[in-house]
Amino acid sequence: MKIIGGPASQALSSRVARELNIEPTVCDFTKFPDGELYSRILDEDVDEVTIIQSTTTDSDLVALLQLIDACEDSPVINVVIPYMGYARQDKKFKSGEPITARAIARTINADRIFTVNIHESSVLNYFNADAFDLDASRLLGYHIRSLNLCNPLIVSPDKGAIALAENTAADVGLEYDYLEKTRHSGDSVTIKAKNVDVMNRDIIIIDDMIATGGTMAESIKLLKSQGAKDVYLACVHPVLARNAVLRLYNAGVKDIIATDTIEKVQSCVSVAPLIANALRSI
Ligand code: R5P
Repeated sequence: MKIIGGPASQALSSRVARELNIEPTVCDFTKFPDGELYSRILDEDVDEVTIIQSTTTDSDLVALLQLIDACEDSPVINVVIPYMGYARQDKKFKSGEPITARAIARTINADRIFTVNIHESSVLNYFNADAFDLDASRLLGYHIRSLNLCNPLIVSPDKGAIALAENTAADVGLEYDYLEKTRHSGDSVTIKAKNVDVMNRDIIIIDDMIATGGTMAESIKLLKSQGAKDVYLACVHPVLARNAVLRLYNAGVKDIIATDTIEKVQSCVSVAPLIANALRSI
């Protein structure tokens, strides 16, 4: 099998190749003077290929489509999209809107698709191929445990991420909870951990992604005001758009823990073993 890393997933694809004892295929990525992307795979062999490329930006998606097209003679094409952008646009919220996740999924011509903690699993049904979502929570859990925190508690910022909090905590024997919002009147809302007192505990707030940081910044302030010791953030996908990092440090975060589905300085946990295992088992 050949491992082809797209421009957004160069480190991750190299790590996956290393896990599988394969030399990653060298590609050339440049731009034409007008800004259009140019991709070239510098290997003539026709073999089963696995293309690994997150689609954080629209250009990342174009590069992925270019690589898939360049592999047209390969007998089998696996595509790994560690972070799939637009997965939050998984349905029509208002009439006249597209289902952008579906529109994108329909452009991906491959034999198998893998994603990692895709925001909405129903998006997998939009691909014209077998599609599998891999779960990075265990890897995050092992990393969090290795930090030797003070009586750590994993907290989901809302009910939507409870399963992620639970899975992250489960294998490593940590406690988890979620934040619950209670509205007392039109302008009076309290938010607290549903079941557990956070006083003097190190808290890890976990979500599938941190985008603008708004959700997390509110949660950090709140947990601090309730007596939490250090507050860490963990996520699978560190989108960290605009000034999110500054916002989070201003809110008092101790550290941000993320995976390399999006390659950022915060990506201290690699999902390479997860992807390599999935590729070994096909
Ligand atoms: C939403 O459903 C997601 O799970 C995240 O909670 C959300 O995307 C985070 O966005 P932001 O960082 O902009 O608050």
